[in-house]
Amino acid sequence: MKKIIITGGCGFIGANTAEYYLKKGYKVIVLDNLSRVGSKYNLQWLKAFKDNLVFSKIDIRNYKSLLKVFKENEPDLILHLAGQTTVTGSILNPREDFEINAVGTFNVLEAMRNGAHKATLIYSSTNKVMGELIDIPIQEEKSRYSFKNLKGISENHPLSFCSPYGCSKGCGDQYVLDHARIYKLNTVVFRQSCIYGSRQFGTEEQGWLAWLMSSLIFDQSVSLYGTGKQVRDILHVSDLISAFDLAFKNIKTTKGKAYTIGGGSEFSVSIIEFFKILESISGKNFNYSMKPWRLADQKVYISDVSSAKKDFNWIPKVSPKEGIKDMYDWVLQNKLLIDKSGILNNKTKK
Ligand SMILES: NC(=O)c1ccc[n+]([C@@H]2O[C@H](COP(=O)([O-])OP(=O)(O)OC[C@H]3O[C@@H](n4cnc5c(N)ncnc54)[C@H](O)[C@@H]3O)[C@@H](O)[C@H]2O)c1
Repeated sequence: MKKIIITGGCGFIGANTAEYYLKKGYKVIVLDNLSRVGSKYNLQWLKAFKDNLVFSKIDIRNYKSLLKVFKENEPDLILHLAGQTTVTGSILNPREDFEINAVGTFNVLEAMRNGAHKATLIYSSTNKVMGELIDIPIQEEKSRYSFKNLKGISENHPLSFCSPYGCSKGCGDQYVLDHARIYKLNTVVFRQSCIYGSRQFGTEEQGWLAWLMSSLIFDQSVSLYGTGKQVRDILHVSDLISAFDLAFKNIKTTKGKAYTIGGGSEFSVSIIEFFKILESISGKNFNYSMKPWRLADQKVYISDVSSAKKDFNWIPKVSPKEGIKDMYDWVLQNKLLIDKSGILNNKTKK
């Protein structure tokens, strides 16, 4: 039986990925400290699968406990998803952010090197390691901004770490690549754009699609910063999981490489366009107030995903319309859970 360890396996991406591999018949070992809002609900949901799921409440800042689990289980695949995930959180507490994202990632790599060196490891890095992209010319259209002469940002774009979150994730990103270079480990980096889907307990700080969707369903007013024409390429979580799987299967090619992973130009939306899609699905109108630009808010971010296509034959398949409808249905069916989690009215900042 194949075995996978997922750090942060009770988070949004982790829980969906755990479900995928459980259904494929893997033994799934989920490690999480349950610090994120919603993670305990995701764990309850995963426990319904019973067989083949093992949960350990482990903090990735604890190297010894990671090493023990890695040695005991000899995983085929390690997905390293645990992390401090918000820019605002990193500014409020940069030391904690560094200890989780930089030192925690180093701990995971060292536990792999010393306890599971034959495994493949994929690390969820972020597009934030590319910085503010102020040098790229953009233009303003009717409902969105767009790049003037560029389809998207590829992994070859120069790195520029901004904000404590950008620095700590970037540090982890570089260590993951270097462990392939120096120790010949099978490690891969995904520089992810905006991921969305069910089981995402979004807040205003992280998971904006989920946050706006929950706000609409609960008739809560929202703030629209800047012009609302800011564009992101969005990727449904099921597409991200198929990228994990394909990068793992093609490890001989993907080893030691970083990939920009997102919806690409075809699956990009502005906030205003997202409002329109959601309003047509729900039959409701957003109640929002305009606010000034937020610090360092990129006007456009779109990934160039051509390397992932070339190296492991991956392309995103779920269109924003389909994906947003799927997520909307999940939020509607789980209103009680969303309410209990406290994400509404910013009752929690995590
Ligand atoms: N969701 C996105 O749009 C997106 C985009 C780019 C990168 N990422 C990265 O992908 C990864 C997963 O993101 P997500 O959206 O599922 O986030 P999430 O917050 O839903 O999941 C992260 C999980 O890690 C756990 N965790 C946090 N600190 C921990 C620690 N010290 N030890 C053990 N567990 C800990 C949390 O409890 C949570 O369950 C993160 O590393 C994030 O930076 C996500």
